[in-house]
Amino acid sequence: MQRILIDTDPGVDDAFAIFLALRSPELHVEAITTVCGNVSVTQATQNLLTILGVLDLDEFPLIAQGEAEPLVKPLVMATHVHGDDGLGNVSQLRNTDGSPLYPQANTTVSSAAGVDLMLEMAARYPDELTIIALGPLTNIAKAIRKDAEKMQRLQKIVLMGGAFEAYGNVTTTAEFNIFVDPQAAHEVFEFDVPIHIVPLDATHQVILTGERLHAEIDKREGTISHFLKDATHACMEFYREHVGFWGFHIHDALPIGMLTRPDYFESVPAHVQVETEGTLTSGMTVADLRPERQHRDPNANVCIKVAVEAFLDYFFERLQ
Ligand code: RIB
Ligand code: CA
Repeated sequence: MQRILIDTDPGVDDAFAIFLALRSPELHVEAITTVCGNVSVTQATQNLLTILGVLDLDEFPLIAQGEAEPLVKPLVMATHVHGDDGLGNVSQLRNTDGSPLYPQANTTVSSAAGVDLMLEMAARYPDELTIIALGPLTNIAKAIRKDAEKMQRLQKIVLMGGAFEAYGNVTTTAEFNIFVDPQAAHEVFEFDVPIHIVPLDATHQVILTGERLHAEIDKREGTISHFLKDATHACMEFYREHVGFWGFHIHDALPIGMLTRPDYFESVPAHVQVETEGTLTSGMTVADLRPERQHRDPNANVCIKVAVEAFLDYFFERLQ
């Protein structure tokens, strides 16, 4: 059983990742911290409570709200993709009696800052804790700045972010999580703990079509199914208009799958750097993935290939 902390900016695909993690007996989700990104950190925290409310949990992970602003740049959000509330506007859906269709989980958000909960977990589980980073790396960079010694005891960091031989999804060269806070990404990539990166090169291989999602949902009953249909409508319409297919990429589910089904993922060692200044290239992740150059002072493993059908079948088996 692997102990994990999820750092997240929910986000529709973050919701898929959180469902998958909490439905994985191989994982124990010790804590979840929220970070600014797709939405404000306050909205991210509300969305996390909504996501947790969809699952019928006996016990809840510890929850703490993280950083509201990137280290240097002003916050850029992605509500145009994920909906005004970041979850396809499900927070506005009501039952006939006016009560929320998706009520928030009956649990509390810690009064501690997300960075402090992250440090507390790293200290409580030395060499055992994996951080799964599904948003900008602001919380992790701040935790390193605050207490590098504690963060040094992390077992590893598995993050969704970056684009190497793939185009970016914010600019031509930058993926969203890195684009929002390139300075934080730079400081994390320079920090000496094992880092596994799941970039757009990998996540763009896994296309969840609306047809497949609805076919899987229609096989099931239950709140998760209704939630997935309601929460994905906005982003799948965005994809239909701007990406060219009806569906979307479940980016953030892949780092979870990397922990529970590692054999579905192929990675290569690389020395990864981040452009923190560039006018055209701010947030670009830079690494030479050519086989003959992969062993030059690697600071990360970069996922380059996914067993797509196997992963999607596994994903939907878990979301029974
Ligand atoms: O580029 C995709 C990433 O940015 C995902 O984590 C998505 O949720 C957004 O945070
Ligand atoms: Ca995310």
